[in-house]
Amino acid sequence: MTKTTGSSTAAAFTLTVTAKPAAPVKTDLLVLPFGVKELKKLGGKTLKGLGLDESPLSDFKAGAGDLAILYRTVSGKGSSRVALLGLGQGKSNADYRKAFESLASRAVELHCGVVTIDCEGVGDWAKHARSTPERIAGVMVEAILFGRYRFDRLKSGKLDKEKNKEEKGKPEPITELVLAGCGALADAIRKGADAGLVVGTCQNMSRELVNLPGNHLTAEDLAQAARDAGKRGGFDVTVFDREKIAGLGMGGLLAVNQGSKESPTFTVMEYRPEGKTKKTVALVGKGITFDSGGISIKPSAGMDEMKSDMAGAACVIGVLEAVSKLALPLRVIGLVPATDNMPSGSALKPGDVITTMSGITVDVGNTDAEGRLILADALTYAKREYAPDVIIDLATLTGACIVALGMKVAGMFSNDDELADEIFKSGQAAGEKVWRLPLWDEYAEQIKSDVADVSNTGSKGAGTITAAKFLENFVEGHKRWAHIDIAGPAFVAKGGGSGSGGTGFGVRLLVDLLKSWG
Ligand code: BES
Ligand code: MN
Ligand code: ZN
Repeated sequence: MTKTTGSSTAAAFTLTVTAKPAAPVKTDLLVLPFGVKELKKLGGKTLKGLGLDESPLSDFKAGAGDLAILYRTVSGKGSSRVALLGLGQGKSNADYRKAFESLASRAVELHCGVVTIDCEGVGDWAKHARSTPERIAGVMVEAILFGRYRFDRLKSGKLDKEKNKEEKGKPEPITELVLAGCGALADAIRKGADAGLVVGTCQNMSRELVNLPGNHLTAEDLAQAARDAGKRGGFDVTVFDREKIAGLGMGGLLAVNQGSKESPTFTVMEYRPEGKTKKTVALVGKGITFDSGGISIKPSAGMDEMKSDMAGAACVIGVLEAVSKLALPLRVIGLVPATDNMPSGSALKPGDVITTMSGITVDVGNTDAEGRLILADALTYAKREYAPDVIIDLATLTGACIVALGMKVAGMFSNDDELADEIFKSGQAAGEKVWRLPLWDEYAEQIKSDVADVSNTGSKGAGTITAAKFLENFVEGHKRWAHIDIAGPAFVAKGGGSGSGGTGFGVRLLVDLLKSWG
């Protein structure tokens, strides 16, 4: 039995993988996962074997994420609490993700410290999902970490006396996950689970950054988060201050920052593997720590959600930490231009014309189209400084993308069909879907300016595409570039229960993509 300890942003978390059967493990929750078909065949027999009666089976049908919590008396080892967990048809990773996310969320509510999952079926699950035991184990651990995450750092608990009394003495939720009954697959499961632990932990780190409000996460704080990630993962981090940014001529970033009391930062992360590298990949993330719209101020309803306008940056930091911990054989550069977007007497004004690092002048039709201004400089810097094989940027760039594709799917643009295809496939595999939109030249018409090289605002329609067309100017003919607009899926608005807030969208997708290149 080996133990792998990973520190997630919240409480400590231990992962244990064992070939031995699950039932005798001393645990707060014994989890028995069943696909729809397996339940029919084995459900009754399994319950009887545990000394439980079969009556729950009249209601429990094993739909993906369905849960039935049963109780029994045990003397000595074993668990008095048993969860039947539905895997649905189990034909894709998505079913397993949904199931284990829902399990973890419930186990947190029940304050289960040690959760033990019966993994005897992993081999069969992998076959049904046309996957591998290793990958299924990875999905399982990613999903459990995802479902277990809560953003409670800013709750003092001072006003919750009743709750505090009730919860006193109960264990921290899911401090240990035991994958038991792995038998001959133990090694494969351990390998996959370890990778899942890395990705899930890094994704939750990204979510934490997205959830932090503007007063708790300034551009300087975001840079510090990158430094911390660099220490954990073992990659280099350099932070440019205002002076250096000005010296480089990053006129887009300076213009957006102009109305703010906080200094801008430009963070450069570099992961270099030992030995030969197959490719250099540059990842660029929009780091607007709060987007008020600036002088073109946003309506107040929902403006608080604009604390999440640095989700692209958070994703890039998370991916850098994950790829370095996974030691992928690629050189990965992460670039994060960061500032808030505020109105003030010194703020950028509509109609102002600015000069970006590329020398391209921009007519600022709307100060709320600020993301593309800071990304412009970062794309120029990426291309000029690193000549990377691939450039991918991620940004909560346009409300129009939400109009087009909704809250669950990201918009994707690329000047390379093969790259677009690979990103699409990784999105499917990782459960973070993207849909490609065109970069046709017809749309460039809409961002022409009478007074500068280009306008930051498009005329009517296709706002997500005109934003992408704007960015295209700054990759300066680079042949393998993709832009992912994550405005929809990066953040779940209030009311989404334990699942609301930052999602860390893109971390799993990009890790999957980079793995496929490694
Ligand atoms: N950060 C917003 C986009 C956004 C909106 C993200 C909603 C997540 C949810 C971006 O900076 C913005 O304000 N875009 C404008 C562009 C417009 C002024 C051309 C928009 O989408 O309205
Ligand atoms: Mn904006
Ligand atoms: Zn924005």
